[in-house]
Amino acid sequence: MVKISLYICSSDDGFIADKSGGVGWLPPMGPEAQKNYEDYFASIDMVLMGSKSYEKVLSFGMDWPYSGKPSYVFSKRPLETPTKEDIIITAQDPKAFVEGLKLKGDNEKTKKVWLMGGSQLIKSFVEDKLIDEILLFTIPKTLGDGIPLGIDLDEDFTLVNDSLVGQLRMREFARKSN
Ligand SMILES: NC(=O)c1ccc[n+]([C@@H]2O[C@H](COP(=O)([O-])OP(=O)(O)OC[C@H]3O[C@@H](n4cnc5c(N)ncnc54)[C@H](OP(=O)(O)O)[C@@H]3O)[C@@H](O)[C@H]2O)c1
Repeated sequence: MVKISLYICSSDDGFIADKSGGVGWLPPMGPEAQKNYEDYFASIDMVLMGSKSYEKVLSFGMDWPYSGKPSYVFSKRPLETPTKEDIIITAQDPKAFVEGLKLKGDNEKTKKVWLMGGSQLIKSFVEDKLIDEILLFTIPKTLGDGIPLGIDLDEDFTLVNDSLVGQLRMREFARKSN
């Protein structure tokens, strides 16, 4: 059984990035949020992202932050992979990709997959009802405009936990079963 998990931060008015795709408004991670992220990252087997999120991470010019786990980048373009890390560009559509993972099952040891973002790829996963859980940090900042998270949480998901991680609200949602 493969679980598709979205772990993401949004502003309090529901944006994951500002108008130009920037995430400079995200506060520095406090120790509790850092620990939460490290525990989460240790719990996943694979990272999925859209090409714009991939290019945003590369633009930071730092070491690839998801080393040790394969990262699949969804793109129809022949993107460059300038680092030696395990980065795979896939032109598959999300449904076929996830069905492929489920067919491989436990043989491939992929039990939990982090859907990292961004909005366009998330929309595609939501439309195909591929997301099993959402872990959503809300940053107490109002952006007014930007790239939306774009999920109708009440429609497809049930709130299963609402807690504080350090100073940040973190809500956990499970997909409604139907
Ligand atoms: N706050 C957070 O926690 C967080 C997390 C992640 C990302 N972000 C931010 O989100 C922003 C990027 O989000 P975004 O919505 O603009 O782009 P995105 O979802 O990261 O990437 C979209 C691109 O992915 C490719 N793609 C391939 N298959 C797709 C499919 N089935 N559905 C949708 N896209 C597909 C397309 O590019 P091709 O033309 O290459 O085919 C599409 O233009 C960045 O600014 C990043 O910083 C924030």
